[in-house]
Amino acid sequence: MKKIIWLIILLCSTKYLWAQTDTIKPSAIWPDTHGGHIQAHGGGVIKVKDTYLWYGEQRTRDLDTAYRYVSCYASKNLVNWTFKGNALILTRPDQNLRNWVLERPKVFYNKKNKQYVMYMHIDGQMVDANGQVNTASGYSYARVGVAVSNRAEGPFKFIRTFRPLGYQSRDIGQFIDDDGSAYLIFEDRPNGFHIARLSDDYLDVEKDVCLIPEHMEGGAIVHYKGLYYCIGSLLTGWTPNPNKYATAISLAGPWSDFKDIAPPEQRTYGSQSTMLLKVEGAKQTTIIYMGDIWKPSAQWDSRYLWMPLHIGDGQLALPQPRPWTINVKTGQTNTSQPAGNTIQH
Ligand code: GAL
Repeated sequence: MKKIIWLIILLCSTKYLWAQTDTIKPSAIWPDTHGGHIQAHGGGVIKVKDTYLWYGEQRTRDLDTAYRYVSCYASKNLVNWTFKGNALILTRPDQNLRNWVLERPKVFYNKKNKQYVMYMHIDGQMVDANGQVNTASGYSYARVGVAVSNRAEGPFKFIRTFRPLGYQSRDIGQFIDDDGSAYLIFEDRPNGFHIARLSDDYLDVEKDVCLIPEHMEGGAIVHYKGLYYCIGSLLTGWTPNPNKYATAISLAGPWSDFKDIAPPEQRTYGSQSTMLLKVEGAKQTTIIYMGDIWKPSAQWDSRYLWMPLHIGDGQLALPQPRPWTINVKTGQTNTSQPAGNTIQH
């Protein structure tokens, strides 16, 4: 009996130790603090006080298919993440929707009223007046959904779906500027890539700040040393493609031409952008590329590609993925080299 108890203790502690790591390993299974692969796909990270919150698509197997789920994870160091539960569990938000999806959730924290506001892409097939499903496209609804909560981990209360400023909206991204103003990035198939300012309460999309005519998904923006950098992917669904970036002095543009963020034949090392995360440490500011490596036939096993970017003076490059560490207090990172050496960025 004693032996069995010791064995259980040993197994539990090994699992715990295994779950605690200081290294981010692009494309590997990323265990949360309980050892389960993190389920926060197409996600976004925000920092509230000294806690990072990662929201994303919950795609665990065997979920009740009547609902769609947004997960919430918390971390102090961007490496070890604790699952805080599903922040949103949503039933079909529109009776005319069939085969619907909830993708790319992004949460904004409104400091003024201490409210968390979640945006998400809601899509699916529509039923016409005769009750027939329009089979032309699985993504014909093209709207955003909005939900709110007073607690980071939810439960979020769903408010409504709508088309921002009347435009079709599929992939969304979020951007919070240095002055705290919040923007929704959304892909509008007929017109392009919108950067639109949210209302003061974040519950509505108020003003189109820029419409970039390029058609790009997985849109993300960061402001770094006086320049805005925007990235996005081409429209190839779950299949990776060469993601691109452009720069501008103002969010309103003019934006430069788009260039590859990595050698195009690498197809963004198999990933698709979801966010650019700025870590401002005491010694250095690091910009992290957050991407998803999708596994369409086993979505629960989709992986993450996070890497510190080479960025500055109008150039942005995603280095070849390797394991790396970050100190969020100093902002410094260390990337392991093939020979086992390490370099400092
Ligand atoms: C991708 C998009 C994903 C998902 C997928 C469906 O391009 O970024 O969020 O919508 O298409 O094919």
